[in-house]
Amino acid sequence: AKDGYKLWLQYEKIENKELAESYLNSIHQITIPNHSATTDVIKNELSIALKDMLSTFPVFTEDGIKKNNIVIATPESLPWLDEFIGQNQLDGLGQEGFIIKSIQYKNQPITLITGNADAALLYGTFEFLKLLQTHQSIVDLNIVSVPKTKIRILNHWDNLDRTVERGYAGSSIWNWHLLPDHINQQYIDYARANASIGINGTVLTNVNANALVLTAAYIEKAAALAKVFEPYGIKVYLTARFSAPMEIGQLKTSDPLDEEVQKWWNDKATEIYSYIPNFGGFLVKADSEGQPGPHNYGRTQAEGANLLAKALKPHGGIVMWRAFVYSENTPDDRAKQAYNEFKPLDGEFESNVLVQVKNGAIDFQPREPFHPLFGAMPKTPLMMEFQITQEYLGQGTHLVYLSKLYEEVLNTDTYCKGPGSTVVKIIDGSLENHQLSGMAGVSNIGSDRNWTGNHFGQANWYAFGKLAWNPYASSEKIAEDWIAMTFSNDPKFISTTLDIMSKSREAAVNYMTPLGLHHIMGWNHHYGPAPWITDKHRDDWTSTYYHQAGSDGIGFDRTSSGSDALSQYSPYIEKQFSNPKTCPEKYLLWFHHLPWAYRMESGKTLWEELALHYQAGVDQTTTAIKKWSTLEKSIDNERYQHILSFMKIQEKEAKWWRDACLLYFQQFSKLPLPDAVEKPN
Ligand code: GCU
Repeated sequence: AKDGYKLWLQYEKIENKELAESYLNSIHQITIPNHSATTDVIKNELSIALKDMLSTFPVFTEDGIKKNNIVIATPESLPWLDEFIGQNQLDGLGQEGFIIKSIQYKNQPITLITGNADAALLYGTFEFLKLLQTHQSIVDLNIVSVPKTKIRILNHWDNLDRTVERGYAGSSIWNWHLLPDHINQQYIDYARANASIGINGTVLTNVNANALVLTAAYIEKAAALAKVFEPYGIKVYLTARFSAPMEIGQLKTSDPLDEEVQKWWNDKATEIYSYIPNFGGFLVKADSEGQPGPHNYGRTQAEGANLLAKALKPHGGIVMWRAFVYSENTPDDRAKQAYNEFKPLDGEFESNVLVQVKNGAIDFQPREPFHPLFGAMPKTPLMMEFQITQEYLGQGTHLVYLSKLYEEVLNTDTYCKGPGSTVVKIIDGSLENHQLSGMAGVSNIGSDRNWTGNHFGQANWYAFGKLAWNPYASSEKIAEDWIAMTFSNDPKFISTTLDIMSKSREAAVNYMTPLGLHHIMGWNHHYGPAPWITDKHRDDWTSTYYHQAGSDGIGFDRTSSGSDALSQYSPYIEKQFSNPKTCPEKYLLWFHHLPWAYRMESGKTLWEELALHYQAGVDQTTTAIKKWSTLEKSIDNERYQHILSFMKIQEKEAKWWRDACLLYFQQFSKLPLPDAVEKPN
């Protein structure tokens, strides 16, 4: 069935005879001298892929290189390699980078896939298969690919009862009840999919953590998963609840400076490594949204992080300490709190700590300016945290290609060390020469047949992995490959689908939160519009907090006359964004409170532009449906219809957003809607 279970590893049969012939000619035999669990995985993948795409069963050998062989090996097994690839180049590959090169070995053409470790060979194999999947030529190859970040990791917000926080694709794929004894095939397919895009880590559990996962019974279960993932180059990590020493260790305190607490974590780390020798480390959410943390003992975030870091260090583990720390009940602008908390601690973290920062300072909004911590902590490796699950972006149903959002944030210039200090250079460690670097993506994976609920959610998972490997890559190129591998190589199908995907993120911003508006969705579910929020359970959720709409205008003043959050950015950004005339209009209402009659670049008033953006968002969803409808005969009906029905939901809900927001804001603006805006019934 074409239900999406195979993700981008569909390995569709190559119908073009000439092309199939040319591939077969270059794949007479596959020589793999190394022996390991990873080379077994490589053979397995090649067998599946070549059988499905070329109806051939590959012949594997360990030596005896013949004409038109594929050779997949590390340099130790290839004494002649220096004839073709210099030592410097090999050194530059590290442990994960690979080379795919067409060479003449003893006057015979062969295709070489090499790298310094077996995991690199696996990555190279997937890249080679991608060439076939996307119908590229495999002669004269010379591909060198080295990951730009070290830790490329999924964060599952999965609970032990298999519910998934902000998950919209069914229940958790981790069946804790049946682990460690039963290994579900889905775990293996999960590992294949992740390895195929270079993901090398997974945090199994929710950041709102349950200490139970650190008890022996659960560590054993996690160990079973770690064993499945190891041949795929994927390490397992867990979330550590800061109060675990009290909850499961019977201690009276969890104070990071208490010696017994320190001993407890040291012993816990030793215990975990006895079950999971390649355990990656901990991800921690502390002092935020009800989670315990060092604040409870008057300690800093650095003291908290270092407690765990010291316990893991002897075993080679790391701590990813989240910067998503804020208090709901302080009068200070939420957007400023993480910076205020963390910036003074720069330089105080142990060397195996990364501070994990969300892309924006509020919370995974459809569009946020980059987080001011990027560029503000030069001595600390900062990890990017993107959300792949679409908490604020239409959740399970809306087609929103998030790679555009990721790309926009990564390419933004922070000016922290002058022009060219882009976020991506902070994330990959190059700006400050950090050895540790990483990118985390909050997973959108669940037990739905197609993994992500929406078929296009798969693209966001795929793009996240690709960008974590190379954050300089283009979203459009990533999407093109994904479309071809997932659906079809038909050029019309690719260009039309690419067009829909490329415009989808801007469409969502338009119909949800245009011009810098944010957090006007329902306060607890975060799905539909609710700019009228009246829930008083938190100080930052009173009716007009985030949009500040009133008869005098709309927008959150974050300049020096308001919350002054802008002062957390570099002087260049502060200056540019402080003036509404030079602030990019896409961030206007994030930083400024302006009258309804304010003149925009277009010459129209703010009210008119706002209304027209909402309408444009709706129109984009309608256009997308029209375009998709031209593709009915291009792919299987099963996925075609599934996607179409979701797109119709999206269109309906885009109208809901437009009508709800405009009617609500109109009570303050008291202005008529422009003619081009469809009137709500
Ligand atoms: C958001 C989300 C929460 C989540 C939190 C986090 O606020 O709504 O469900 O726990 O982010 O990132 O920790």
